[in-house]
Amino acid sequence: MTADALVIFGITGDLARKMTFRSLYRLEAAGLLDCPIIGVALDDWSHDHLVSALREALRTAGETVADEPFERLARRLSYLRGDFTDPATYRALSDLLKDAGKPLFYLEIPPSLFAPVVEALAAADLTAHATVMLEKPFGHDLASARALNARLHRVLAEEQILRIDHFLGKQPVLDIQFLRFANALLEPVWNRDHVAAVQITMAEDFGVEDRGAFYDPVGALRDVVQNHLLQVLALIAMEAPVGPGSDALWDRRVDVFRAMADVDPAHCLRGQYEGYLDVPGVKPGSVTETYVELGLEVDNWRWSGVPFFIRAGKALAARATEVRVLFKRPPRLVFLDEPAHPDANELVLRIDPDPGLRLSMLSKEASGQSTRSVHLSLSFAAELGKPPEPYERLLSDALTGNRSLFTRQDAVEETWRVIQPLVEHPPAPVSYERGSWGPVRDLGRTSWQVPWLSSPHG
Ligand code: BG6
Repeated sequence: MTADALVIFGITGDLARKMTFRSLYRLEAAGLLDCPIIGVALDDWSHDHLVSALREALRTAGETVADEPFERLARRLSYLRGDFTDPATYRALSDLLKDAGKPLFYLEIPPSLFAPVVEALAAADLTAHATVMLEKPFGHDLASARALNARLHRVLAEEQILRIDHFLGKQPVLDIQFLRFANALLEPVWNRDHVAAVQITMAEDFGVEDRGAFYDPVGALRDVVQNHLLQVLALIAMEAPVGPGSDALWDRRVDVFRAMADVDPAHCLRGQYEGYLDVPGVKPGSVTETYVELGLEVDNWRWSGVPFFIRAGKALAARATEVRVLFKRPPRLVFLDEPAHPDANELVLRIDPDPGLRLSMLSKEASGQSTRSVHLSLSFAAELGKPPEPYERLLSDALTGNRSLFTRQDAVEETWRVIQPLVEHPPAPVSYERGSWGPVRDLGRTSWQVPWLSSPHG
């Protein structure tokens, strides 16, 4: 179902400035936009103001802008000033949408307004054939996620709801299912017989900066683990989908979440970087975590007994998001004069920055008898070209009715269920130095390693 109008609630906000305008421009330049776009917000903006905000956002993003697509996009845009809680806003919107039968409503607004805006759209008879795309966060715990789903479902069918998780639009995340199921080499070793542990890292080398008021009630667990990193884990651990289409893929991802026990807070570590309490918007004495590490299990035939570790933190030593699959160690090399126990092979999928793949193999040093890890490294961009930005892909999929990159209700609720004990009983945060690798827990053989930081060619 292709949308015939795009309505963006919150077009004057931060996310629009940083992500939406650029994605819209790129889609326009690629000839992928084909409908009017109406921005709605409370600010006293005009069409001209909106077009200058677009130009400014593209300039700040360093986008190369051509006149023709820019003008086309500018003509496509219109602006409606309105209070999201006022029925008059929806009456005015209804007039603007009189020629549209299948609008897409994109809500990039505070989450507390998701349900009220959707209810107001329904009350104005605007939702019958509409799709609604919602930004994250979807709920702040299991109960609130369920309550929000219940409210939305009173006026929308599940097929009409698109819940954004921009990680699902990242090329290397999309690649996981191809990598796993298009390469017969990997499947036989992708299980508890051969894998010792899986480590998922999302390290950011910047702090909370100007987002204190948003971040402090949220913390690392809710901000990136419940959504982004658990979705990555599901793609790493799932079985192959049994057919095409969004539901076939979601069924397999949800199987993974269902096979996961609730997290045990005793296997988790929370940290807070030194200086976090001075960030504007952070409450005095806040115990919000800026770093979290947890150990999880997927209790099924493929993975039982294999620990899945996740760590995510701000103000760490480097920016790196990766999945590291640690294979089991081979037996001692008894044919050597001094039999050694070699290190394990590792496969690293780097998601950010410079997506790529690296396989560590053990090899013999040129002289002597000792072994050393050598790497087979691949840069996706160098081999496969530069992919679209996640938001470009998500917007284009939403406009054309492809739901596979948007999270389904059961997946959202299951991920909240898995982390709920940690939401309810968070251990006290340990302080860590900015620019370090965060607080460290001893995980024995499967201890955290410094992420793969060199260029994929390095
Ligand atoms: C967002 C989080 O969802 O993802 C941010 O709210 C985080 O805190 C960001 O920095 C990371 O996304 P990306 O695409 O820049 O890695």
